[in-house]
Amino acid sequence: MRRAAAAMLAFVMPAFAAQDLMAEESALRFSAPANLVETGLLKYLLPRYSLKTGTRLELVGETETASLRLNSEGKGRLVFSGPENDWYLETEPDSENAGKFEEWLAGDVGQRTLASFSANGKQPFTPAAAKKAQKVNVVATGDAVQGENLAERHCGRCHMVNEKTRMTTIGSTPSFALMRGFPDWSNRFEAFYALNPHPAFTIVAEVTEPFDETRPPPIAPLELSLQDIEAILAFVRTIEPADLGSPLKVQ
Ligand code: HEC
Repeated sequence: MRRAAAAMLAFVMPAFAAQDLMAEESALRFSAPANLVETGLLKYLLPRYSLKTGTRLELVGETETASLRLNSEGKGRLVFSGPENDWYLETEPDSENAGKFEEWLAGDVGQRTLASFSANGKQPFTPAAAKKAQKVNVVATGDAVQGENLAERHCGRCHMVNEKTRMTTIGSTPSFALMRGFPDWSNRFEAFYALNPHPAFTIVAEVTEPFDETRPPPIAPLELSLQDIEAILAFVRTIEPADLGSPLKVQ
């Protein structure tokens, strides 16, 4: 009896100790200026990284020692922009974990994650690549904000419009981010009400004909004005296109 208990303890204890040690080792200290912390971006970003990699990140003050340091002084690599300045990441040179985080943040997934962060209906941060690639900055105008609300309400039943509508949508229906990647995305969105399956359930004031009485809409109809569609277009313009991979780029 006693021997069994002792044997079990011997088995259990090292496992706990090892886990503690791993947690200790993998906690990366991360510092950022207070004005960036206040935006909520890091609370959004860091847990997502931890979840994927199992690396714990500890947010510390700007003056404390840290393996990763987000700054606006141009130290390290340009990683994103917004809302008022560019942000750089300085990493501790010998830390493998810090290097991994930098690769993640500067890579596709990290850049997409930070671009998908929204506060008060706006997406305040843009990927570093966007900064380099496009001179004209796409900013969310009042219309785009209204457009996002309209899209959530009317299109979010079927399409993934943004993160909020990820779970409520029909998986096989193309997401807005995917369609934003089409070269002719604006034509398609301007005319969506004429493209299947929408005519069966969409009413655009002063544009569409009344529904055929023998074929009532299969779902509660969408009712929009042309201004609403313009607002949705303004919103779609701000969406980061999903990466469609190389086959489509060839077209
Ligand atoms: C009842 C579900 C449903 C709703 C609501 C809906 N859509 Fe769609 N939409 C679809 C489906 C399904 C497709 C894919 C059709 C296909 O496979 O060609 C689609 C395709 C599209 C396309 C691409 C059309 C093409 O042929 O290129 C656009 C643009 C679009 N939707 C915009 C919208 C907008 C904007 C709204 C809201 C105002 C909206 N949709 C609401 C189901 C819906």
